[in-house]
Amino acid sequence: MIYKFIIAAVFSVVCLSTFKNVQAEATGKVVEKIQSPIHANTITKVVLEKKYNLITGKKNYSSAGCAICHDNAVMGAPKPGDIKSWTSRLDNGWDQIVKHSIMDYKNMPAKGGNSSLSEIDIENIDAYLVSLVVS
Ligand code: HEC
Repeated sequence: MIYKFIIAAVFSVVCLSTFKNVQAEATGKVVEKIQSPIHANTITKVVLEKKYNLITGKKNYSSAGCAICHDNAVMGAPKPGDIKSWTSRLDNGWDQIVKHSIMDYKNMPAKGGNSSLSEIDIENIDAYLVSLVVS
């Protein structure tokens, strides 16, 4: 009898915690969506100019090694200003573009292989690149 009780108790604790996790996950996603600073549809040149330093981004793009791959579309790296190769990336949203630049992403090494760059440096370069393909 007591075994049955323990099993029932354990079962309900497991069920409850699973339910809580599911709830937390669902809520988390909504929050993330609302808090996303720039969504694909709202990436505009004006927003990028306000939030980031495009001039520094342009300088670092050349000096930090990004241009070596991106100017020559090495391994499919999207070329600056080539709208065709940026469209699907823009659809993923700004957060994803930045995330993909900071961590290893397909053939793109984390931070383009230049670990001395800060996240702000990367964001400025990304903002410069994206500003060339949005209006
Ligand atoms: C060794 C070559 C290489 C270097 C150096 C490099 N990239 Fe890339 N990058 C790539 C490739 C390849 C892709 C495309 C990956 C894919 O979609 O297959 C890419 C994609 C990207 C994307 C698009 C990410 C997305 O969401 O699709 C951004 C932004 C980017 N790179 C930024 C940078 C920045 C900033 C630097 C310099 C700090 C840099 N890259 C240096 C190869 C490189």
